[in-house]
Amino acid sequence: MPQLLSVFRAARLVGVSRSSLQRKIHDEGIETFEGKITVDDLLALFPRTTLEHDSEYDRVQYIKQHAFAKRVREHLLPDVDVLAGRVAELGRELASTRAHLAQYQTILEQITTHLRETEDAPTQKEVHGLLHWINGTLAEPPMPSDPRRDLFANDTVLRIMAAHIKIQPSNHEYWLEGNDSILEAGVHSGLALNYGCTSGNCGLCKARVISGEVKKIQHHDYVLSEAEKNMNYVLMCSCTAVSDVVLEALEASGENDIPTQEVITKVKSIDQPTDDMLIMHVQTPRMQRLRFLAGQSVTLSLKDKSSGDFSVASCPCDDRNLLFHIPNKPDNSFAQALRENTKKGDDVTVVGPHGHFLFNEESRRPQIYLAYGAGFAPIKSLIEHAMALEIPASMDLFWAVEKEQDLYINNLCRAWHDALEDFDYHPIVNQNAVKRLLEHQPELEKVDIYIAGPKAAVEHAGEQLLAAGLPNEQLIATTTQD
Ligand code: FES
Repeated sequence: MPQLLSVFRAARLVGVSRSSLQRKIHDEGIETFEGKITVDDLLALFPRTTLEHDSEYDRVQYIKQHAFAKRVREHLLPDVDVLAGRVAELGRELASTRAHLAQYQTILEQITTHLRETEDAPTQKEVHGLLHWINGTLAEPPMPSDPRRDLFANDTVLRIMAAHIKIQPSNHEYWLEGNDSILEAGVHSGLALNYGCTSGNCGLCKARVISGEVKKIQHHDYVLSEAEKNMNYVLMCSCTAVSDVVLEALEASGENDIPTQEVITKVKSIDQPTDDMLIMHVQTPRMQRLRFLAGQSVTLSLKDKSSGDFSVASCPCDDRNLLFHIPNKPDNSFAQALRENTKKGDDVTVVGPHGHFLFNEESRRPQIYLAYGAGFAPIKSLIEHAMALEIPASMDLFWAVEKEQDLYINNLCRAWHDALEDFDYHPIVNQNAVKRLLEHQPELEKVDIYIAGPKAAVEHAGEQLLAAGLPNEQLIATTTQD
């Protein structure tokens, strides 16, 4: 029976992203067994299995954390009780493995004794040969650099440092590291888990533990009924995982699954990367974050009552830090109020989310993103969300602007291109973006295309792409402020 590892765990062990491993498995024609790969196949694909610091996994994590303006999370050890629980679990496995080894040793000794007793039998030569082979094999020292041993050593360390969480019925998977709650780790991994307060009051993050051990890490006022406790219900915001855990939990699958919220946020910064663009970073209170789906927008209101609808330009995986790209045009009164009357620490009321410019998570087709000007904001949110989920599809970003400086965060796109496999960036200055897109990908039936930008540009591009053969359901479009 070959030893099997889930693709999710295997990717982490060899230091690549899950999407890279899935692509490699596909390209090399390797057979998987219900989402699992054999250890031998994994070692054939990655003969060197050490977790190096410059591994692709680390690079992608770095890009995610820094490029998303996300809080840089320390690599914390889990707390003492959690560590003790994980070590105890490994100890139980070690004891069981030792018991099995002792049993095999006894069986081997009995076979050897039995063979010795029959050495004078007619098949003496074969028996002697077999005995010689057994003794020789047992006397051989283990290979000094057995890649399997390195792989299993990595796996042991991983199991102490992180817990593997699987959510049902979606089968989404993620790692929980340090002292994160099950909810926090899931949201940071890009999952749209159900939650409200994040502080144990609302009960919306209730989930049922199917297997594994969890531990309460914060007091919660919400009271689980006796029946719920007996059915292993827990609050994901108030528990961490001691061992690998399988949970039954609700996840939003569309805009109707997320309620409208009103959150008073604080301005962290207002930057002006170019004359025509302002980037505002606001932060929600720790206990009242904004739940939204990548690509959605909200209504922002400033203290002088100026308001406007803007796409969130950041990933839902960082639900406290929200970014907005505000076109800085003379006729944009919101931009003017932001520039002239708003400073760090001021309140900004956020109401939302709304909109259905959403990522098609089920699709495995290559993704093409076409942003016109400030339409880059919702596109950025979608791309970061796809990265957080490690969607195994290639991505092409076409960003069309009138002049070079309108590519107001060109460096970010270049950083994505440099850091990620299968991510291509095509800045387009004062050219026909659809023509460039079609030259690059003429087979439109094979791709999903996301378009965002001013109404006229989006509608025109959509018509051209549909006429060129893009199936209607593979066109996802939204309009943004010019
Ligand atoms: S999110 Fe409110 S109780 Fe967990």
